[in-house]
Amino acid sequence: MTATQIVLVAIIAVAVLAALAAFSIASRKPGPDWRAGMDVRALREDRSRVLVAATPAPVTAEEEETQVTVEAPVESAGVRPVEVVKIEEVSADEAGVTRRQFFNRATLALFGTFSIAMGGSMLAFMWPNLKGGFGSDIDAGPIDEIRTQVFQADGSITPLFRPDARAYIVPITDEELAGSQFVDKSLAAGGFMALFQRCVHLGCRVPWCNTSQGFECPCHGSKYNYTGEYEAGPAPRNLDRFVVELQDDRFIIKTGQIIESPRAPEKSVSYPQGPSCIAIESAG
Ligand code: FES
Repeated sequence: MTATQIVLVAIIAVAVLAALAAFSIASRKPGPDWRAGMDVRALREDRSRVLVAATPAPVTAEEEETQVTVEAPVESAGVRPVEVVKIEEVSADEAGVTRRQFFNRATLALFGTFSIAMGGSMLAFMWPNLKGGFGSDIDAGPIDEIRTQVFQADGSITPLFRPDARAYIVPITDEELAGSQFVDKSLAAGGFMALFQRCVHLGCRVPWCNTSQGFECPCHGSKYNYTGEYEAGPAPRNLDRFVVELQDDRFIIKTGQIIESPRAPEKSVSYPQGPSCIAIESAG
């Protein structure tokens, strides 16, 4: 697993943990009902609140006359009835969604949407793209056009670079192929192979050196001949490559699988065929 994939997996893990935390907060149950276990009469009494004047207001002579004439309600020992305030309790269904419930549900929905979107985008990034791009079968074009672009008039070669496949298309003759370790592995078609651009030492992109007719890595100096066989430097093996095939005379690079191969004891082509680019740059 590459460092990029490890970072992406870590991001997904953090997103999932955040979603779980939000879910646990949102689904937290309320505390115990304090009414549970209380006496029914006590609960009934609690629904009503009777306000009683502590000290009766002095009754004027005029009020006394009014009370007598209209037959005022029964009063006893200086206590008189006053307004009764009733507090009606309602069920959860009658009360509807509370502000707290709304907030919890909104938080849960937000984190759920965020997690799904992030997880989906990460999976789409990590999984091979089945509709095109690196990881799929890439059509590099008609084999005749590739041949025209690779073989130069002076007899040298210039590999055709395909950015979407991250690959160099390099030539190999039937004779060279027969003496190499790549024969019978579907690594050549129509006289060409596809080399992964990444250096097998620490992953730098390996540029083509026209003077030496090979690939030379500027990072730590690994060198490969034009069929991608190891020649020098700290690289542990040949350049990696892809399975290729011809479909209606079009060169197809199958980038869904990267093929590794060990250093070859016998090289299929000679290297270098001229000055090294790394040597030229360091001398300058
Ligand atoms: S990354 Fe190419 S030689 Fe080190």
